[in-house]
Amino acid sequence: MRVLGVANMRDSAAALVENGRIVAAAEEERFVRIKHVTALPIQAIRFCLATAGVRLKDVDAVAVPWKYWQVGRRASLALGAMLRSPQLCRIKGRRSLERLAQEWKELVFLRRYLSQRVDGTACPRPVFLDHHLCHAASAMAVSPFERAAILVVDGASESHTTMLAETHRHDIRVLTRVSLPHSLGQFYAAITSYLGFKPDYDEYIVMGLAAYGEPCFARTLRKEVLSLLPDGTFRLNTGLLDFHLARERRFVAKFVELFGRPRSPHEEVTQRHRDMAASAQLVLEETLLHLARRLKTLTRLDRLCLAGGVAYNCVANSRLQQEAGFQDIFVPPAAGDSGAALGAALWLTHRRGGLTDRTVMRHASWGPGYSEQSCKEAADRAGLQVESLPDVPLCEKVAGELARGRLVFWFQDRMEFGPRALGNRSLLADPRREDMRALINAKVKLREPFRPFAPSVLEERAGEYFELRRPSPFMLFTAPVLASAKGTIPAVVHVDGSARVQTVDGDSNPRYRLLLETFGRLTGVPVLLNTSFNVNEPIVCTPEDAVSCFLRTDVEWLVMGNLLARRSMKQDGVVEPER
Ligand SMILES: [Fe+2]
Repeated sequence: MRVLGVANMRDSAAALVENGRIVAAAEEERFVRIKHVTALPIQAIRFCLATAGVRLKDVDAVAVPWKYWQVGRRASLALGAMLRSPQLCRIKGRRSLERLAQEWKELVFLRRYLSQRVDGTACPRPVFLDHHLCHAASAMAVSPFERAAILVVDGASESHTTMLAETHRHDIRVLTRVSLPHSLGQFYAAITSYLGFKPDYDEYIVMGLAAYGEPCFARTLRKEVLSLLPDGTFRLNTGLLDFHLARERRFVAKFVELFGRPRSPHEEVTQRHRDMAASAQLVLEETLLHLARRLKTLTRLDRLCLAGGVAYNCVANSRLQQEAGFQDIFVPPAAGDSGAALGAALWLTHRRGGLTDRTVMRHASWGPGYSEQSCKEAADRAGLQVESLPDVPLCEKVAGELARGRLVFWFQDRMEFGPRALGNRSLLADPRREDMRALINAKVKLREPFRPFAPSVLEERAGEYFELRRPSPFMLFTAPVLASAKGTIPAVVHVDGSARVQTVDGDSNPRYRLLLETFGRLTGVPVLLNTSFNVNEPIVCTPEDAVSCFLRTDVEWLVMGNLLARRSMKQDGVVEPER
């Protein structure tokens, strides 16, 4: 059985599941080079089909993580909210209509659109599935747990924003749902907008900023904006903070009276903004804990699967791991809406009896991979000279250069599915240098100075550096850095003393693992600073993207598979002086 998952919402993506096993999954943004693109994922679908060597007509079913006819219910909820708050009516009405029209059109005519645009062959009839069940499936079907509680939290599904459920052998039983307009995702997006960042886009910046502030607005936020209910759920006061208004950066007078004027995008970040970020982050964490504790009471289970866009908040995930009463938590690498495409394919496979084994997801390498020949051709076309080295000398060379303070773009194997670079499309650096953040920002990434960089560490040696109870292969948990290690790896320690850790096990990514081992032997520290391979664009996908990005920066080395290219060999002949 071959099922194609297709998600056309923000972070649109496609995934292919064959006989219960994942064959391919990728976000459309990587192909069309537009971050978080909302569109039919035609190129991602073509990639998935090509990986399996099939055409659209060979697919048994198309699974879509959205019951589009339920937008009627969503529209009526929006209408109800508008009637209660007439001042929201104009903006909310226009936005809702535009979005509804696009969703409807693409999904109603999906079969025809896919058939015409993918490869001209017939498309099987699409099956439209509950959005939150697809999020849930994206975690539970690939988690190590036979039986677990499930918490799904995002901006909004067809009409819900939160789902509490439990799973046993791939079946899902829904326990409670929270409906629009009460949304944790939209609460955090609205605060993101209030702080002058882009909602639905820059939430991770707010999470990073929170560590610099004091949560002095948390009590007022809790009293006036987001309150916990005794039934384990929560309520958002949309009369004060409505996502649609916040998106337009129009905050109601009372909100401004309580918390001050919203920050303009280019205004300086002050202590009040840091405090607001810290307060919103704390209120989010407390609400998630409230939900998770309710879930624990309802299910009495020891394991938790977490999914939905809010599950990218790794600081909150870590609090759940420590305080919610669950022994273990699994979060898939694509926890947001791109992951719902994979979840849809897995969920439909299960509903048709095809999910018999449990395949635990240990890596995120489900995207396109490229041969050494195509990497070589891309380098040749750009006039880059490359040399090919076997794995061991390659890693020795790269580790040596990293230890000398050089930066390395590391392009390997298949692209990661989900927003994190996990050693296949990464920019690597030495975490031991205090000035490394400034150096990276100067040479590559023009980003806010308060945003932290993350470490990769050999799984079995993570305990020497971090207070981490479980492996964290997808960089979705933070951990306190041990006092004894803070001085050793200063470039990856956030201001609050934590780090967003990626643990690298023995078999998921052999070449990256070898590099970490080699760097560890050379320096005594098996840790690398790992950030994504991109500059103000989606993470690179093809060798051409990699070469083009390399040439736009001052990074010294580019590694593509076994090929090594040096900055001083660039066509423009600029040779950087030795430091
Ligand atoms: Fe979602």
